[in-house]
Amino acid sequence: MYANAKSAGARAPVTVPRLHEMKSQGEKIVVLTAYDASFAAQADAAGVDVLLVGDSLGMVVQGHSSTLPVSIDDMVYHTAAVARGNVHALLIADLPFMTFPDAETALRSSARLMSKGGAAMVKLEGADYVCDVIDALARRSVPVCAHLGLTPQSVHKLGGYRVQGKGKVAGDQLLADAKAVAAAGADLLVLEAVPAALAKRITSEISIPTIGIGAGVDCDGQVLVWTDMAGLRPGPMARFVKQYADLHGVLLKAARDFADDVAAGTFPGPEHTF
Ligand code: KIV
Repeated sequence: MYANAKSAGARAPVTVPRLHEMKSQGEKIVVLTAYDASFAAQADAAGVDVLLVGDSLGMVVQGHSSTLPVSIDDMVYHTAAVARGNVHALLIADLPFMTFPDAETALRSSARLMSKGGAAMVKLEGADYVCDVIDALARRSVPVCAHLGLTPQSVHKLGGYRVQGKGKVAGDQLLADAKAVAAAGADLLVLEAVPAALAKRITSEISIPTIGIGAGVDCDGQVLVWTDMAGLRPGPMARFVKQYADLHGVLLKAARDFADDVAAGTFPGPEHTF
């Protein structure tokens, strides 16, 4: 099914140096999450620069109420699926909760995401002790995306999914953390749910690209969870989500039409029958 995609297109694959070049040239970096080969193929064909296999899959695919139950096996499985659908986009995979408590464990977890899953970069949440982990990964040529601001793996410590870095003290700490992860060797930084002015300052004061989600328009790129972006589920969305489609409505209607056809005996028709 994906053989055509593999041979298609003159577009060059997106690399880590290319992301740095995009920042220096002021070209915005487009990032979407992906969890399977079908969506990966579509997002890649749409020209998305980076596909992120986020541990958000614990909530949007597995139905958990947080990302904490996601395992490294889950991440390897979904990353490998996304890799099979992708051709050009740079593939990032999340290190899930407690799979990077120290450098050695992080190296082992990252090796699985890269060698079995096909990831080109790993993402990990936090600063502080995480800087030592980033340093160890970077020294062994594992590209790293750091993640600061609202870090969902810390939901219990943060007391909910709230904007971070508000006020001078918290903002200064976040800026210091951003500089620390960049100095430790991160190649990319996700800023989630932070005030736009702070994200703008961080973006201008660090040399690595920033990718915002709820962090204003001045980041070097933007990421959304694809199911939010495409309106796959009904109900209220976070303020930072813009819905570009109503997949929920489309799929509900398709499933209802199918059910009606089956109930009425009008599917399968002669054209679907051998
Ligand atoms: O897990 C995820 O999908 C993420 C993005 C929302 C940045 O971390």
